[in-house]
Amino acid sequence: MPSKRAKGIASAVAVLALLAVGGGGYLLISLQQEAEAMAVALTGGDPSRGKDLALQFGCGSCHAIPGVRGADRRVGPSLDGIAGQVYLAGVLTNSAENMIRWIEDPQGVDPLTAMPRTGATGQDARDIAAFLYTLR
Ligand code: HEC
Repeated sequence: MPSKRAKGIASAVAVLALLAVGGGGYLLISLQQEAEAMAVALTGGDPSRGKDLALQFGCGSCHAIPGVRGADRRVGPSLDGIAGQVYLAGVLTNSAENMIRWIEDPQGVDPLTAMPRTGATGQDARDIAAFLYTLR
């Protein structure tokens, strides 16, 4: 039979473990919120709309993109961590305006690139850029 004291310790450990898991979850949520707030500040776009648009415009038929359903192709580079990359497609410095420009008209930036126009322009391109900047 475990002593009363051992039971007491066991339940204290269980409570601490629950608190640790809860705290970790909270930290993850707040990191995600921080990434989204940064992305909004950088682009003026809406990251959650942008995530849906990345699916609609078929970005995932060529790119691996975390969080986008079915986006696991390797025709182009993975967009995981794109927010922290220095250059876009090796030709543009990675700024919000350049990201939008690239999404709207890649071959206008680099005529030799294999990435086609997808039809994402204006607010749609801005929202997709906002989503991409959450990928840190
Ligand atoms: C037909 C395939 C294809 C589709 C569809 C496509 N891309 Fe690309 N994308 C590429 C290729 C190939 C590259 C590499 C271009 C280069 O380096 O010249 C690229 C490069 C990029 C880059 C720069 C990546 C880096 O690491 O520098 C971004 C950002 C990007 N694409 C976003 C998008 C978004 C957003 C969409 C959807 C709106 C999209 N792409 C749709 C093929 C595609």
